Amino acid sequence: MPEKQLSGEVYYPKQQIIDHANAKCQDLYEFAKKDYVGFWEKEANDLKWFKKWDRVLDDSKKPFYKWFVGGKTNIAYNCLDVHTETYRRNKLALIWEGEKGESQSYSYFALRRDTCRFSNILRSLGVKKGDRVTLYMGRIPELMIGMLACARIGAIHSVVYGGFSVEALHERLEDSQSKVLIVSDGAYQRGKIVPLKQIADEALIRAATVESVLVVKRTGESINMEAGRDMWYHELMALPIAGNSCTIEEMDAEDPLFMLYTSGTTGKPKAILHTHGGYMVGIYATLKYVFDIHEDDRYWCAADPGWITGHSYIVYGPLLNGTTSFMYEGAPTHPYPNRWWQMIDKYGINILYTAPTAIRGLMRFGDAWPNRHDLSSLRLLGSVGEPINPEAWRWYYKTIGKEKCPIMDTWWQTETGMFMITPMPCVPLKPGSGTKPFPGLEMDIVDEEGKSVKPNEEGYLVIKTPWPSMLRSIWNDPDRYVNQYWSKFPGMYLTGDSARRDEDGYYWIIGRVDDVIKVSGYRLGTAEIESALVSHSSVAEAAAIGLPHELKGNAIHCFVILKAGFSKSDKLIEELRQHVGHEVGPIAKPEQIDVVDSLPKTRSGKIMRRVLKARALGLDPGNISTLEE
Ligand code: WTA
Repeated sequence: MPEKQLSGEVYYPKQQIIDHANAKCQDLYEFAKKDYVGFWEKEANDLKWFKKWDRVLDDSKKPFYKWFVGGKTNIAYNCLDVHTETYRRNKLALIWEGEKGESQSYSYFALRRDTCRFSNILRSLGVKKGDRVTLYMGRIPELMIGMLACARIGAIHSVVYGGFSVEALHERLEDSQSKVLIVSDGAYQRGKIVPLKQIADEALIRAATVESVLVVKRTGESINMEAGRDMWYHELMALPIAGNSCTIEEMDAEDPLFMLYTSGTTGKPKAILHTHGGYMVGIYATLKYVFDIHEDDRYWCAADPGWITGHSYIVYGPLLNGTTSFMYEGAPTHPYPNRWWQMIDKYGINILYTAPTAIRGLMRFGDAWPNRHDLSSLRLLGSVGEPINPEAWRWYYKTIGKEKCPIMDTWWQTETGMFMITPMPCVPLKPGSGTKPFPGLEMDIVDEEGKSVKPNEEGYLVIKTPWPSMLRSIWNDPDRYVNQYWSKFPGMYLTGDSARRDEDGYYWIIGRVDDVIKVSGYRLGTAEIESALVSHSSVAEAAAIGLPHELKGNAIHCFVILKAGFSKSDKLIEELRQHVGHEVGPIAKPEQIDVVDSLPKTRSGKIMRRVLKARALGLDPGNISTLEE
């Protein structure tokens, strides 16, 4: 029971949820508070190591922290082999449903077998430990198999979200110097086909390091196959060389597992690096406790594997916990707005983890769609990606969870790898707040000087303790890692978010304070959108900002200065929107583009997006002393 009465709108956990929980959360908080290193060590001991670590945490070269130093393991071994060696061998690891309604399932045995076969193929193509492999696909089981196959042989995977387009893919192939690209011929999305292979062909023209392209047949549309470079996945998988077993690469705990590109404050997207050891421990423990994973659960994270949520909580976390995961290929409302509710009913899903934008999108179709289906299998719900507005929270809680399923509103980032601010099933909830930091984490909200702010005051959200699944660096750019995350406040990790903490110690995220825009939960950088705009022949300068949007959370608004000889027209604006879609991806298409004569800039020439945003919202732009007008 809570020690004191909490303020505001509070939802206390039901006794049956508390009784069911696989841990007493108060015990976890207390243990971790006394000894956070010991807490993580205990979790690591649940997993298999070829050699145990000499030291749990090495902080001698801050901020280049190391975890489980000297330990040898492989995350893919812990995801598959440990289960196939036990009674879980024939348990379902993955149930998949395609947008067109077909389904497939994989037992742990089958998933390990196919992963081994694919690992052998990759090895035969010369992929070695440390080589980079890019994956660019829709939400299909082969994406999971590809990631696990890379992990098994120690290759570093770089998954590029299937909603990205030519330039975004090209940039990521080139920066990672990938040797192999795994792509699907296309992906189904809202009944249409996204021609992924065709987009990849365009991106590959300037990606010199890619030697082989492995193509998964999903749509069967006719595509170009370049002789000597492109090979069909299903043909390779049928070769004798793809044996059912494959030796596993023993990885150092600190060896990289994957890189994942994300948008930051300035310039190009950066690749965040995660490791085999610490990352594995962090996501194993957080998923187990937060979503209270039990042996007979069916768990569904509806994110895309192309983002960190999918990496940690569709692919690795559920498999580490030996649970049965569900994956759905398509859009939530296709062909009708009951698609998700129908599948929860059909597969008996117990846990649903999604994003506020999806909840809002489904809410607007009303209660009749979910009410047609039996959702009584649901026990826990989750939310991620942006702050959830209380109205959407209440709808999710009442209409979907029938007031019996607590909502785990998890705040975290590509960089953190795992949930950071999150409830556990026995924590009282307040709609819109992720409650408190996960056990073992000290977080704070600080002012410009790095001092803790008073309750309810807004400030910078920072993290003060290292955690096992923290990013280790930025690929090829350790200086940027130090500058971006660790230099504003010494000894504190800067999240880039602003937040406040109420009198009960509950955290409320306000939003990004940097040049990152969250559109429908997807993270985009103003720089990517702006550079796409200026790559169009008509644009001299561009600025992008995010403005509040009812469904998407934020929508992209752009301001452009046209080059001499071009004039504003609806046709040109539409052409610019399409151009951004082609370069970055459909998610980056601006909601609105305004043609302007000048942009507010500092004397050193930096665009003051804050001023643009304030003007657009009719607010006071604040301190504009550095403005050159
Ligand atoms: C935002 C996604 C409020 C936040 C896992 C963070 C959230 C950024 C929440 C990271 C949440 C994520 N409540 N805001 N529950 N979860 N965010 O790297 O601004 O794609 O910094 O990771 O999403 O986005 P990323």
